[in-house]
Amino acid sequence: MKDEGCSMGEVLSFLSDLRDEDLHHDRILSSMCTIPHPIAIAVHEMFSATNLGDPGLYPGTAKIEDLLIHSLGELMHLPDAGGYCTSGGTESNLQAIRIAKKLKPEVKEPNIVVPASAHFSFDKTCDMLDLEMRVVPYGTNYTVDTEKMAEMVDRSTIAVVAVAGTTEYGMIDDVSVVARIAEEQNCFCHVDAAFGGFVIPFLENPPLFDFAVTGVDSLSLDPHKLGLATIPCGSLLLRDPKALNCLSVDSPYLTMKKQCTLVGTRSGADVAGAYAVMKHLGREGFRAMIAGCMENTRRLVVGMEACGYSRVVDPIMNVAVFTGEIAPVGWKVSYTRNNHLRFVVMPHVTCDVIECFLADVAAMRE
Ligand SMILES: Cc1ncc(COP(=O)(O)O)c(C=O)c1O
Repeated sequence: MKDEGCSMGEVLSFLSDLRDEDLHHDRILSSMCTIPHPIAIAVHEMFSATNLGDPGLYPGTAKIEDLLIHSLGELMHLPDAGGYCTSGGTESNLQAIRIAKKLKPEVKEPNIVVPASAHFSFDKTCDMLDLEMRVVPYGTNYTVDTEKMAEMVDRSTIAVVAVAGTTEYGMIDDVSVVARIAEEQNCFCHVDAAFGGFVIPFLENPPLFDFAVTGVDSLSLDPHKLGLATIPCGSLLLRDPKALNCLSVDSPYLTMKKQCTLVGTRSGADVAGAYAVMKHLGREGFRAMIAGCMENTRRLVVGMEACGYSRVVDPIMNVAVFTGEIAPVGWKVSYTRNNHLRFVVMPHVTCDVIECFLADVAAMRE
């Protein structure tokens, strides 16, 4: 920082030049985040000075967090679910497993059993909590092999994890079977629906994956992915609202004397924005958005296959994965751990964007 400041115009122009170096969304085919809804952006600004880390100072904003958790719980078939708004799927997964560990203090060398599809946030979680991570191989269709999962749990297992909407292949584990395995082992069952939580409920004939499944103890669900909220906005939802209390520490100098969240200072801006989007769009709005993403996903699959690529799985969500590694220059795609070409067809990946991309693919292969 220099001694003397400079004008707001100069600063904004400097930052704007750097912002111009960022990729444009219409070239990004690999992100699980998208352009926030305009209402989320407007509300974000309105609440930019709020801090949910000290909720007694911002009781109105704290009420909005409660309303958002209630709405998310409703979406997950448990309106009375407990929980709070996190910074994203990583924090939600970490906090869920912290709870699982606290619930089993007698286990000396704890492990968690996760699918091969599990997001790398579980590697961080195990590192931080000093847990063994047992990785269950894929079964059919890149979902978890539940027979192997049942063999891999034991008395030291504190939690099993299912993924509803896998990061790489967009698949949905058989949550009912995973929850049964947890019940038989008397351990915690966490469902990582960070991505799928805002997609699956709006598909035609969605599978059961949430609190409708007996035995599911907690869920991660991120409004900053397909909830069109501003970043960072995730959520951890708990079947037993009191479960969060085991994480509480004294916070003597704040308005609330106990705190269960991982971070202290938390913005209310993204939280209020996420709630605004849900209230504004309603289920119908989300259904229409997801229907559009699915239509575009199908178009991408047909177009890629016409160009000689083969789909690795039949998409059930807005993720499409192909064999073949090459994509045209200028587009941002990604690759799975198995080196498959991966696309996430978010709302910013419109039909025009897809046609433009497919034209480049066709030209590249000529
Ligand atoms: C299934 C799943 N879980 C967790 C995460 C981590 O979320 P975040 O990056 O918001 O921490 C992701 C991110 O893509 C994800 O796809």
